[in-house]
Amino acid sequence: MTNSSRLLVTVCAAASMFFASGCRYLKQDMANQPKNLPLSPSDFFADGRSERPILENTVAHGSIADDELFVPKDSNSFPLKVDLHLLQRGEQRYRIFCSPCHGLQGDGNGLVSMRGMKRPPTYHQERLRQASNGYFYDNITNGFGAMYGYSAQIPPADRWAIIAYVRALQLSRNAKVSELPKELQEKLSSPNTGANTGIAGDIPGGAKPGEIGSVKDSPAGAKKE
Ligand code: HEC
Repeated sequence: MTNSSRLLVTVCAAASMFFASGCRYLKQDMANQPKNLPLSPSDFFADGRSERPILENTVAHGSIADDELFVPKDSNSFPLKVDLHLLQRGEQRYRIFCSPCHGLQGDGNGLVSMRGMKRPPTYHQERLRQASNGYFYDNITNGFGAMYGYSAQIPPADRWAIIAYVRALQLSRNAKVSELPKELQEKLSSPNTGANTGIAGDIPGGAKPGEIGSVKDSPAGAKKE
């Protein structure tokens, strides 16, 4: 290295150090304002603390029920009108926010749980069928065990839409035939579909009554038998 190139390197290094440090202070100008950090001392108040003591006999706004659709955990009331629109909204939100872990049908077999996260319980068990609406609302809002709360992502009305949809999922496997609409009852008892085959008879090329669950229908089952 010649003397002149050595000089050039030194000048460049010095210049970049100067600019780097200069920029740091220039940029931080807004951040370095006089302010109180948490628990820092202050001579503004007589007690020398920047933190103000909590007022006696007061409750912080929002600390008990932090939204307008809050329902206590043990309550089974439902604060919105349940209609098709709410259920469709619930289905859409459920697919976005819950199905990755709970699965599309609520069995607890979502893709995330299949890849290592603790497997959530199925919604189709007696305990969760009996659980109150408020319990579900609390789970979504505040989380449950390994599951995070979703209050930041899902506004209250959408939490209820999701609960309505979860209830529909539960009902889809546990409804009494006598509670179904008349035309569905008729469909179920018509010889075309058969009581146990559900909608299969409606699907072109779908299984005929008696075929579902048969050896022909499921090669996996055939091996086991
Ligand atoms: C990231 C994965 C994940 C997502 C997303 C998720 N959950 Fe969960 N959920 C879990 C896990 C794991 C558990 C079991 C937690 C435990 O037992 O520690 C659980 C448990 C539950 C329970 C059962 C509580 C009980 O008593 O057993 C309910 C109800 C529930 N979740 C509802 C929902 C709803 C509704 C959504 C969508 C808004 C949702 N979860 C989204 C992972 C998830």
